[in-house]
Amino acid sequence: MQASANMQTQSVSLNLLSDLLEEGPQVQDYNFLNEFFNSGYAKDPTGFLAQFADVRKRIDAFSSPKSIAGFCYLQPYGYAGDFQLIDRLYTNYKGPGKAIQRWDDFAQSQPAAQAVRNRKAYFINLLETGKPDKVLNIASGPCRDIKEYYDHNQDAAMVIDCVELDGRAIQYAQHLLNNDTRVTFIQQNILTYRATRQYKLVWSAGLFDYFSDNLFVRILRKLLACVEPGGKLVIGNFSDENPNRAFMEGGMNWFLHHRSPEQLIDLAKQAGAASWNPFVEQEPEGVNLFMHLSNPDKMAT
Ligand SMILES: C[S@@+](CC[C@H](N)C(=O)[O-])C[C@H]1O[C@@H](n2cnc3c(N)ncnc32)[C@H](O)[C@@H]1O
Repeated sequence: MQASANMQTQSVSLNLLSDLLEEGPQVQDYNFLNEFFNSGYAKDPTGFLAQFADVRKRIDAFSSPKSIAGFCYLQPYGYAGDFQLIDRLYTNYKGPGKAIQRWDDFAQSQPAAQAVRNRKAYFINLLETGKPDKVLNIASGPCRDIKEYYDHNQDAAMVIDCVELDGRAIQYAQHLLNNDTRVTFIQQNILTYRATRQYKLVWSAGLFDYFSDNLFVRILRKLLACVEPGGKLVIGNFSDENPNRAFMEGGMNWFLHHRSPEQLIDLAKQAGAASWNPFVEQEPEGVNLFMHLSNPDKMAT
């Protein structure tokens, strides 16, 4: 079904879209749908979430573990944004059946999903251009990024230490990496982790946007101490201009602390990194921001 373009998006409840919701959207519906979600959420966030909870009871694409949105909502590992969901985004997974497939086509085509895929490319590019010898990867998840890096740089001597809380993510990543001995896994919570060495590059994506500002500053301070003189720390965080926030929060139950570049830099200053030349880059969708911090200390000669 193609939704009528002149529909009054502001005043229509999700229930009135039942055909579109049940059959799943097609490409020509995407703009309408996004406007509908975004205006509905802006106008009445609580009502919008309640309507989506209702929709979920009726529509598989929002409650089945075989779909992107349903899997995310169900949180089979006990938290949102687990390694399997992230790897479904990296591998452009689409579930079975017409409606689920259409909703997964929609989810995978959106800027937020593309931004996750772009951050994999962003990290690989950092590794290929900076050629760090030792990397610390905090909250490493599925390690699809590391696998692709080594696939393209088979003789690379670079070693990576991965700190990851979830043992199931570590097992999944070790299997994906074919137990590559250049990668060491440390199963630990970043809240209690203590580094035993320093690194040329410290990278963390898909973690800090789960943190309150206070926790962000506390963990950032800890990571600054892990960067060797002249080395770099790069932190990913979803932007407060994410155009898919309504769909993620309503449809997927995926809540993040969205932040602006200015907020990220302010948090870096609060963590004591004012002299680390903080600046923020973004991937091509502008949804995933990356704050760069460089250790101003010089390597002893
Ligand atoms: C959204 S995924 C990101 C994975 C990876 N960085 C990426 O971008 O592909 C978040 C990962 O953080 C891990 N995680 C969450 N809280 C953590 C914590 N406190 N300490 C260490 N890892 C954590 C989760 O288990 C999950 O694998």
